[in-house]
Amino acid sequence: MTGPRQTQRLIADEAGIAAAAELLRAGKLVALPTETVYGLAADASDDRAVASIYAAKERPSFNPLISHLPDVEAARRQGLFDAPALALAKAFWPGPLTLVVPASSSCTVCSLARAGLDSVALRVPSHPVARAVLQAAGRPIAAPSANRSGRVSPTQAEHVFADLDRRIDAVLDAGPTAVGVESSIVACLGGAPRLLRPGGVPRAALEAAIGQALVIVEEGGTAPLAPGLLASHYAPQAAVRLDAEAPRPGEAWLGFGPEPDGALPALAFNLSPSGDLTEAAANLFAAMRHLDDQRPATIAVAPIPMHGLGEAINDRLRRAAAPR
Ligand code: TXA
Ligand code: MG
Repeated sequence: MTGPRQTQRLIADEAGIAAAAELLRAGKLVALPTETVYGLAADASDDRAVASIYAAKERPSFNPLISHLPDVEAARRQGLFDAPALALAKAFWPGPLTLVVPASSSCTVCSLARAGLDSVALRVPSHPVARAVLQAAGRPIAAPSANRSGRVSPTQAEHVFADLDRRIDAVLDAGPTAVGVESSIVACLGGAPRLLRPGGVPRAALEAAIGQALVIVEEGGTAPLAPGLLASHYAPQAAVRLDAEAPRPGEAWLGFGPEPDGALPALAFNLSPSGDLTEAAANLFAAMRHLDDQRPATIAVAPIPMHGLGEAINDRLRRAAAPR
């Protein structure tokens, strides 16, 4: 991937906060301090900006990302909060808690940041610098930890430079973070709330706020998951045929790069006619959803190269193609 030539260090004063917000509004990548760890931030409503997060991190797969908001009111516009979600938000926001809730009809978090799911992960951080940037940015900000994939999360600006120098536009330096582990993640999707990731808020405190025990779900665990509810990977209704040279009669077509010879079906989408993997990643989930909505029996998918974001795109496509 070709990143910016320089990663600026911004000091977290008024001017630095304004500059960070301006970069985010322009679709750039900025490492931001939060009370837990430094986050690699981008405009969560911009598929292309979100795709560049995965590229900078060299993430092998598109996990859904947490979107950060300046206050509870802004978060409530993005998601639908049931009683436990409201109780948790009241008790722990701003703070190191993330809530996974159904996306609202006015949710502006793009489908790539949600990994194509109907739910959305929301967090209102307590770090004053993070809140000031979020306020000035005026949109949800996606931010996974600002480390390269496979490395530990950064708790100082220096850690971010060590992993991401020249891959991102700026680091907003506010010194070491206070909490040092990521936020607790609780899913409130109807039924009993589930702890998806232990983190900055102790489990006992979470359970006290909702007056019930949390169901524990291990991240990446193999416990049987309720279909559609817990499935953390978007799966289309259609069968998916990978590495297709061309669509067969009746198949929908998901292309990449130059189209094959011959007529394409009416139901077709090209992820990136120019063969740009960042553009393809940005379009992937929205394109799959668009095709699947017309209920084709099969979606044939052009071969996608394995370099850069191609590995993550192919990971997601393989999951979508897995027999169910
Ligand atoms: O402390 C933190 O939470 C840090 C700081 C920067 O805020 N952020 C962070 O973000 O750790 P991230 O994007 O790396 O966390 C992503 C995790 C996923 O691995 C997944 O477990 C969960 O959030 N997640 C996000 N959206 C989800 C969804 N719709 N359903 C289930 N899990 C979701
Ligand atoms: Mg991380």
